Amino acid sequence: MRNVTIDNVTDIVLASMGRHGEQTPRQQEVMASLVKHLHAFCKDVKLQHSEFLYACDYLGRAGALCSDKRQEFILLGDILGVEVLVDMLTRPVRDGESESTVLGPFYRENPPVLPNGASCVLKDFEGQETVLVEGVIRDTDGNPIEGVLVDIWEDAPNGLYENHDPEQPDYNLRGRYMTDAEGRYAFRALRPAPYPIPEDETAGELIHAMGHHPMRPGHIHFLLEKEGFGTLVSQVFDSESDYIDNDSVFAVKESLIARFEKAAPEHGTDLHVTFDFVLAPAAAAETLAAE
Ligand code: BEZ
Ligand code: FE
Repeated sequence: MRNVTIDNVTDIVLASMGRHGEQTPRQQEVMASLVKHLHAFCKDVKLQHSEFLYACDYLGRAGALCSDKRQEFILLGDILGVEVLVDMLTRPVRDGESESTVLGPFYRENPPVLPNGASCVLKDFEGQETVLVEGVIRDTDGNPIEGVLVDIWEDAPNGLYENHDPEQPDYNLRGRYMTDAEGRYAFRALRPAPYPIPEDETAGELIHAMGHHPMRPGHIHFLLEKEGFGTLVSQVFDSESDYIDNDSVFAVKESLIARFEKAAPEHGTDLHVTFDFVLAPAAAAETLAAE
């Protein structure tokens, strides 16, 4: 202990843990792995003290940005591909259920409750393309599920979510729908545009340090909830969108890509998308969380 060296410091820190208080088995596992990986990282890059101080200042600045409008650490996790990784570890796909992907920072609770088929468009944009999005939500045995709450949200053709754009009405392009007895949901919206994630402040610093770009492909967010089933947080991606193969937050999955087809006259929109979901029983999701 009195002779700490580069070679023994990791073992000394590991040996100190759990001696002066109770740790849960999970804390033991997580803290030991964190120390090992953090030390290995510092050794790998020969981290210098000025860089350590820069990292401390950076994290302090990121923390100071957090408010009920911006969670900077989630954004940093997205940029590093950590949120999508954690989502896949938390919720591995089972029994044909639909894939999830990241929630992102733009979800708002209590969107307007709208009847199936209604439009969530509260403002028109020049050059916009209207779209009817519809599909069926089934259980893993293929039975339609009635009464699934379907929250959707998306950006406008200018690339902004309504709560980040003073020119858009409150709750524009957000809605909550419910599946009917055949498990069907339907809503009218606008073709989502590619947009940059916030790239000012510490998020931008990280993107630039990675030599990456901030753009996301056009997508519509979904949050599906029904008692007895695992909640599904997902996104449906426009197959023709720019950045579909190079998402800044790595959230695209092949199974979540949909074609925005030219609509038939009876649809009453420019485009038409069909996208079905499968929900797994809650029990499966709960078992996983407890494992
Ligand atoms: C989004 O899709 O809204 C989003 C996801 C991760 C980071 C930023 C935005
Ligand atoms: Fe988004």
